[in-house]
Formats: sequence, structure tokens, C-alpha cells
Amino acid sequence: MILRTERLLLRPFRQGDLDALTDTLGRPDVVRYLYWDVQTRDEVADLIARRMHLATLAKPGDRLVLAVERRDTGELAGDVVLGWDDSEHRQGEIGFVFSPAHHGKGFATEAAHATLRYGFDDVGLHRIYGRCDARNTASARVMERLGMRREAHLIENEWFKGEWGSELVYGMLDREWQDSGQ
Ligand SMILES: CC(C)(COP(=O)(O)OP(=O)(O)OC[C@H]1O[C@@H](n2cnc3c(N)ncnc32)[C@H](O)[C@@H]1OP(=O)(O)O)[C@@H](O)C(=O)NCCC(=O)NCCS
Repeated sequence: MILRTERLLLRPFRQGDLDALTDTLGRPDVVRYLYWDVQTRDEVADLIARRMHLATLAKPGDRLVLAVERRDTGELAGDVVLGWDDSEHRQGEIGFVFSPAHHGKGFATEAAHATLRYGFDDVGLHRIYGRCDARNTASARVMERLGMRREAHLIENEWFKGEWGSELVYGMLDREWQDSGQ
């Protein structure tokens, strides 16, 4: 599946993304608030091989992971994820990881916006939510810029990288998406 925005192309991962993704996921500052640690080149190669099979959201339980490419330079800037939890509740979870070389330009917000549009308008989800470490202000700001509501601030709800971690939950409903006119 492919999504296009003004500045970005969201497309399936391919083997040629190995160098750029290794640069990104090999950095401690990038993985600081992610559930995994820095990834080696071999681990990233395995990850890309798995992600190449996560290129459509066909049924509940599927997870879509798209590479986000800059249309001006063709560089891999980051990735977005949309998980479709189940059919009855029509809930989905969004996520994003971008290379520091491409931070601060609104690319994550633009890519996540296209992903919300796809989730609500094409998949027909009722609610899309995103979670982040309470200290991950950059991630929280992206979700606020998208117009997602802060639904929860969970305090020390998980043991995270050797300490108690707190988590923010942001959400948006399909009617809020429609009303926002985005
Ligand atoms: C979370 C993450 C994707 C946010 O990246 P980001 O670059 O801050 O987000 P955006 O691409 O939307 O850029 C927004 C910034 O660009 C600025 N900007 C510049 N041009 C812009 C434009 N055309 N449109 C929107 N914002 C623009 C905004 O003002 C904002 O700046 P601010 O951070 O000072 O408020 C990034 O920090 C990251 O990858 N972190 C590591 C992985 C991670 O933790 N992921 C989240 C897991 S929950």
C-alpha cells in the first residue's frame, strides 16, 4: 500500500532501506523510549524482512508498517505503524519513529496525519490511539498537533528499561476526525 502527502511517500519497506534504518535504529537517543534497545545491522535486516510482509491492513489483527520517504530527496525519513486491534471494537494504534536527521520539519506529523486519514476513511476505524512514555515530549507534541485528545496519564504502569515508566495515551474518534475537517 502507498500513501502520498505533499512532501512524503509512505510505501512498503524494501531491502534498500537497510543502511538508513540501521543508522536510525542504531542510535540510543532514537530507541530511548521504544520497547527495544539499539538494533544491529543484522537485526535491522531481519526487521525489514518482517516489515516487507506488513504492507497492508486487510483484516483485524493486521499491523501496517510503512517506510516514510522524502519526495524531494528520496531519503528514508522514518516509519509509521497502524495496528488494527480487532473487528468488534474497531480500534487502532498508531506509532512513528523518525531519524534525527529529519526531525523538526513536521514530517512525523504529516505522515501520521495521512495514516489517521487512512485508518478512519478507508479502514473505517472508530477510534485510533497512540501511547508514549510520559517523558517523550516530542511524541506527545506530534499527537497533540494531530488533534488527538490526551486520554490518560498512567503513572508507573510498566517496568520499562530498568525503572518504573509512566505513559500518556492519546486518542481520536472517527467523528472527531470528521468534525476536524482535516
Ligand atoms: C517522535 C518523533 C517522531 C517526533 O519527531 P519531530 O520531528 O519532533 O516531529 P515532526 O516531524 O512532526 O516535527 C515537528 C517539529 O517540526 C516543526 N516544524 C517545522 N516545519 C513544520 C511543518 N511544515 N509542519 C509541522 N511542523 C513543522 C514543528 O514546529 C515542531 O517543532 P517542535 O518540536 O519544536 O515543536 C521523533 O522525536 C522520534 O522519532 N523520536 C524517536 C522515536 C520515538 O520515540 N517515537 C515515538 C514512540 S511513542
